[in-house]
Amino acid sequence: MNTDSSPIGVFNSGMGGLTVLRALRKQLPGESFLYLGDTARLPYGTKSAATVQRYALQAARILVDRGVKALVVACNTASAVALASLQRQFAPLPVLGVVEPGAQVAAATCRRRILVLATESTVNGGAYQRRLLTLRPDLQVFARPCPLLVALAEEGRHSGPLVTLALQQYLEGFAGPTPSVGRVSPDGPFDTLLLGCTHFPVFRDALRDLLGETENSAVALVDSAETTAHALADHLKSGDLAVAPADVEPTLALMATDGIDRFRRVGGYFLGDRLSAVELVDL
Ligand code: DGL
Repeated sequence: MNTDSSPIGVFNSGMGGLTVLRALRKQLPGESFLYLGDTARLPYGTKSAATVQRYALQAARILVDRGVKALVVACNTASAVALASLQRQFAPLPVLGVVEPGAQVAAATCRRRILVLATESTVNGGAYQRRLLTLRPDLQVFARPCPLLVALAEEGRHSGPLVTLALQQYLEGFAGPTPSVGRVSPDGPFDTLLLGCTHFPVFRDALRDLLGETENSAVALVDSAETTAHALADHLKSGDLAVAPADVEPTLALMATDGIDRFRRVGGYFLGDRLSAVELVDL
C-alpha cells in the first residue's frame, strides 16, 4: 500500500467547513489535515459565480502549494460553481466537493418531500434541485436561501431567540403549527431537511426543537459531512490516494484570512474539538 504523510486540504469561506472536517477526522483518524477559512471574504453565498470561482481557485492554490495530497471543497457554494474547474486546474490531484455527497444522502433518505436550506447562490444555481431530481425523479424538491444563518453561525450563535426567529422565518410556509393547534402550512410538511450549507449543522439542535413543535416533528435532518468523509475514505481504500503511514502522528493545521482570534474562539463548536493556533494568511 502507498503511504504519504502529506495533509488533506480542506477549505471553506469561513468556519462552516469545520463541520465537514469533523466528519473527515472521525472517519480518517490517521490522516493529517490542513484547513483554510477565507474569513476575510465571507460570505461566498451572496456573491456571483465568477467571484466565488476566483476565490475558490485562490483558496485551493494556497493549499496545493503547501503540498496537500487531496482537496475537499467543504463549501456547497464553491462546490456548486467551482468544483469542475478546480478538478481540471489541479488534476491529477483528487478534488472532492460536498454537493454530490449531500444529494446522495438526501436522495437515499427522503420519502417524498424535501426542503433544501442553503445559500442564495446554491439555491439560485439549482445544483441540489437538479441533482436530487436526477437521482429521484419522484421527489418534490423545495429550496430556501438562508443567508442570515451564515452570519449567525460565524458569530458563534447556534441557539437562542435570534436563531429561533431566523429559522422560523426561513421555514415559514413549510413548518407551520400542527393542524390540531392551528393553520396547516400551505405547502404542507416535508419529511427531509437537507442542510445544504456547511455552516448549518450547528443549528441541528435548534432545528430539532423547532420542528418538534410542528407537523414536521419526524423530519430527517441530513447534511453532506459524513457522506463526503465516506467518499474520501473510498479514494484511500481504492488506492488512488496514498494513506498516511501508521507510525506518523496525524496533525491539524488551521489557516484563516482574517479574524484569527474569533476563528479560534468560535471554531471549536463547529469542529467539536479545541482549536490550536490559527495562522493568518493572505490569498
Ligand atoms: N458554508 C458555505 C456553503 O456550504 C458558504 C457560506 C457562505 O460563505 O455564504 O455554502
